[in-house]
Amino acid sequence: MRVILGQSTKEAVEVVTSMVLERIISHPTSVIGLATGKTMEPVYAEIVKDALKAKTFFDKAFFFMLDEYVGLKDDHPSSFKTYIKTKLIDPLKLHESQFAFPPVHLVSSGSAGEHYEQLIKEAGGIDLQLLGIGINGHIGFNEPGSLKESRTRIVELTPETKEANKRHFGEGLMPDKALSMGIGSILDAKHLVLLATGKSKADAIKYVLNHHDDPSCPATFLKSHPYFTLVLDPDAASKISLKI
Ligand code: GLP
Repeated sequence: MRVILGQSTKEAVEVVTSMVLERIISHPTSVIGLATGKTMEPVYAEIVKDALKAKTFFDKAFFFMLDEYVGLKDDHPSSFKTYIKTKLIDPLKLHESQFAFPPVHLVSSGSAGEHYEQLIKEAGGIDLQLLGIGINGHIGFNEPGSLKESRTRIVELTPETKEANKRHFGEGLMPDKALSMGIGSILDAKHLVLLATGKSKADAIKYVLNHHDDPSCPATFLKSHPYFTLVLDPDAASKISLKI
């Protein structure tokens, strides 16, 4: 695991942005896995700004979304599909056909997870997977208790996760379930980059750095990946001591 400590949130965001842009510039047909959440918002804003300025083209790249709520309409303002459409697809004039979204419409048939895994396989796997982290150490929507071998599946959201995300929904309308790539699916990506910013992530980051393969904090599973980069801002790193 490589840990990069930004001197500011802006610097941490720039590190992650550069990793994505460098990958696309050097390998235009890359397959990139995208995460959502507040943490990633400045990353997408920076990618859009830099890509438009430098005329970096994303037209040969393909993208997989990490997770999606179950039970929302595609165009729900708080769906992850709407999130990425407004933050990346529309500003860069990308085509929706360059994106794969967890197939929540297949949930009732029971084949949603298997279908998504097959799509990832057919795309040749994910080259670079962006990740955030939940305050309880979840990755995507792999909540505590998730297995290292887990694949794309329906997951029940924990009370902490629902509390952290309920601001995006009306009273009592927060979904209970999501379709999420599993830990095993994430670990199959060739490179993993996790960005954590803000004080609310400091405890989870401390836990990750001090534990291995601990199902109570799914992010600890990522440490066994040969190319895992953890990018932190000063607040997220405020409870750890990094020896130089
Ligand atoms: C969300 C998403 C994750 C995200 C995490 C942190 O619920 N499913 O992919 O990394 O929780 O979100 P935020 O960046 O808003 O703190």
